[in-house]
Amino acid sequence: MSQQEFWNQKFLRDGYLYGKKPNAFIESCSSNFKKAHRFLCLGEGEGRNAIYFAKRGFEVAALDASDIGLKKLEEFAKEEDVYVKTRCVDLNEWVPKKKYGSIIATYLHMYKEDREALFEKIDSCLKENGFFIGEFFSINQLNYESGGPKDINLLYTVDDFSNSFPNCTKHKIEEEVVELDEGKGHRGKASVIRVIIQKN
Ligand SMILES: C[S@@+](CC[C@H](N)C(=O)[O-])C[C@H]1O[C@@H](n2cnc3c(N)ncnc32)[C@H](O)[C@@H]1O
Repeated sequence: MSQQEFWNQKFLRDGYLYGKKPNAFIESCSSNFKKAHRFLCLGEGEGRNAIYFAKRGFEVAALDASDIGLKKLEEFAKEEDVYVKTRCVDLNEWVPKKKYGSIIATYLHMYKEDREALFEKIDSCLKENGFFIGEFFSINQLNYESGGPKDINLLYTVDDFSNSFPNCTKHKIEEEVVELDEGKGHRGKASVIRVIIQKN
């Protein structure tokens, strides 16, 4: 089953699987993002982060493999009277054509063998001093029942990030146990990796 089929099935259900509030870590990092620059959300699904930043005056684009997720994002944007540019694309096929001042990703479950290529693309399309900030389930999330894949190849290690991004300063790459309260999809104690990476 492709990522699109898998996520379309999940997002077809009523409601917003991860809620409508932004991810708490991303929200806490808001001061790193500059409104004058393009803001890109990778694997943004139903749009909780994208809408949050669009409402605060950012020029936001959201990429995702799920057309159903992006349709829900667009409905959500309409309700909130904001615009988010959406593009349905598998990130393995994505060829960045623009530069972005800020890039975020939350719970983007990419296969281990595909991560390096994605990280190279992020590194290449981040503007000087721009931030890539994200939160991902760690391999230790297999010990918790708060959400996320049960396939270790879709879970991350600190090394995945520290061994990539050669043109960036890594301000934070930390594995933490946190309490998630994100819709029905992510609820309870979870092992995550939080990253704050800045292009030199
Ligand atoms: C767990 S959901 C998280 C959605 C959103 N980031 C959030 O936190 O609410 C994972 C998202 O990543 C997207 N995704 C997974 N693999 C992808 C790929 N290869 N290309 C594009 N999107 C992908 C899925 O379609 C889904 O929307």
